[in-house]
Amino acid sequence: MARITAGVSTSHVPAIGAALDLGKSAEPYWAPVFKGFDFSKRWIAEEKPDVVFLVYNDHASAFSLDLIPTFAIGCGEEFKPADEGFGARPVPVVHGHPELAWHITQSVIQDDFDLTIVNKMDVDHGLTVPLSLMFGQPEAWPCKVIPFAVNVVQYPPPSGARCYALGKAIGKAIRSFDQDLNVQIWGTGGMSHQLQGPRAGLINKEFDNKFLDLLINDPEAAARIPHIDYVREAGSEGIELVMWLIMRGALEANVDLLHRFYHVPASNTAVGHLILKNGG
Ligand code: DHB
Ligand code: FE
Repeated sequence: MARITAGVSTSHVPAIGAALDLGKSAEPYWAPVFKGFDFSKRWIAEEKPDVVFLVYNDHASAFSLDLIPTFAIGCGEEFKPADEGFGARPVPVVHGHPELAWHITQSVIQDDFDLTIVNKMDVDHGLTVPLSLMFGQPEAWPCKVIPFAVNVVQYPPPSGARCYALGKAIGKAIRSFDQDLNVQIWGTGGMSHQLQGPRAGLINKEFDNKFLDLLINDPEAAARIPHIDYVREAGSEGIELVMWLIMRGALEANVDLLHRFYHVPASNTAVGHLILKNGG
């Protein structure tokens, strides 16, 4: 059967992708950010996951105000890097795992979560930057990736509680897949940031670190945070953190913290990153 071996969370700042793509990762501003992923790169090279179930948000690249799915699962064979206005990032095409993705889709929809099925979409920095942070700059991504897009761009976003419950249903679905696969689940986006309006530039280190503590040790409490608290405390884009709860919901209550990293600033936000071994 498929096994969920670990959960990974990380921010997805687009400027991190640009720093890598333009060869600026050793510059003093960026070096401390990438240093926080040295352990992670060594760790994942040994773990060799077969599939990453990657929870992320699209930033009006694949979707637009014409069509706004709350939860969308990528069931296609491949997903190309999106052109976000400066040309597509020079990173490999993402290869999906249609068989597992359809299995999860069936299981989760039958468990009463209404997913949108996507066979064709481009993937933006929300998905490619986490891959770059964890795998560096390979010729091809070393595993299959199932993209799972969450609407946190257009109000109303799904609640943290709904995301956490959905994570549980996704975990159950993966564990019931009849192939021996090493699967990781990643939750991406965050941490506190606001890109617009009078509070643009907001970063709340205290909220971020409390959220990391709760996510590791008391995810039920983290899941009870109402969406308005993310917006008030972590800024309008801080709501991206609800995606980390999908990752946490798919893991067991007991986890082992393998790595924790927090750094401010990176562009307009704080970079947070966790690696949780499933089952503690
Ligand atoms: C920034 C962060 C994001 O999450 C995003 O989607 C775009 C920009 C930033 O920090 O600049
Ligand atoms: Fe974002």
